[in-house]
Amino acid sequence: MKIALIGYGKMGKAIEEIALEKGHEIVLKIDVQNNEDFTKENLQKADVAIEFTGPHSAYENVKKCIQFGVPVVSGSTGWLDKWNEISALCDTNNGSLVYSSNYSIGVNLFFELNKQLAKLMEPYDSYDVNMTEIHHTEKKDAPSGTAITLAEQILANMGRKNKWVNSPSSATSDLVITSQRMDPAPGTHTVTYQSPIDTIEITHTAHTRKGFASGAVLAAEFAKNKSGIFTMKEVLGL
Ligand SMILES: NC(=O)c1ccc[n+]([C@@H]2O[C@H](COP(=O)([O-])OP(=O)(O)OC[C@H]3O[C@@H](n4cnc5c(N)ncnc54)[C@H](O)[C@@H]3O)[C@@H](O)[C@H]2O)c1
Repeated sequence: MKIALIGYGKMGKAIEEIALEKGHEIVLKIDVQNNEDFTKENLQKADVAIEFTGPHSAYENVKKCIQFGVPVVSGSTGWLDKWNEISALCDTNNGSLVYSSNYSIGVNLFFELNKQLAKLMEPYDSYDVNMTEIHHTEKKDAPSGTAITLAEQILANMGRKNKWVNSPSSATSDLVITSQRMDPAPGTHTVTYQSPIDTIEITHTAHTRKGFASGAVLAAEFAKNKSGIFTMKEVLGL
């Protein structure tokens, strides 16, 4: 498979390593210093584009891939305020888009566990729930995209919480997400249910970026020659 990498930072490089190991070819690498090479002609040499840039550039990059007719796997976080626009564009252009706030297989299993746990805890209102996420200091957005996904899953399955907040709050209907930044930390997410009697806690800790990169390559293999909008749930058949 021929891959275009949009964003050649920590994740772009980790994805390149895994893609080459799996026998794929990198036909285009775009970063800020060669953005003029991000043309329709160049992009169409690839079967699929993998976009990991950041909150401020993701929307424009994903939009270009869709408009240029190349399936795109995006991992950039912090830009989902543009989700409705991008999904409408993808529909109109019969495009192919995979998005996940976290491509690691382990985190996607953790997402399923999180939903199940929220459903189980729904009747037991003596338990309060909160979340902590820890990442490296270069991370630009807070809370993490993964923490937002986890929070939305809890809100969808637990009637006593009605919004997430990223600051301390004493309102029992708020789901508090605490963000910590320290080095080195590829990513830790903990969901805690606490009652006066006991605590139930689930934690996912990423040890390296390799898990995200392998999942993104898997998603690219899935997206090739497809049209529609997909998540890791479809990629992994969960
Ligand atoms: N979904 C996931 O599984 C997952 C995992 C890790 C990181 N991320 C997210 O992916 C993004 C990138 O993470 P990273 O650790 O590789 O960051 P990074 O800062 O190491 O790399 C980002 C790269 O994108 C480049 N870039 C910025 N604007 C660009 C533009 N307009 N066009 C082309 N390139 C541009 C930067 O120069 C940089 O080289 C972040 O939003 C991060 O939160 C997602």
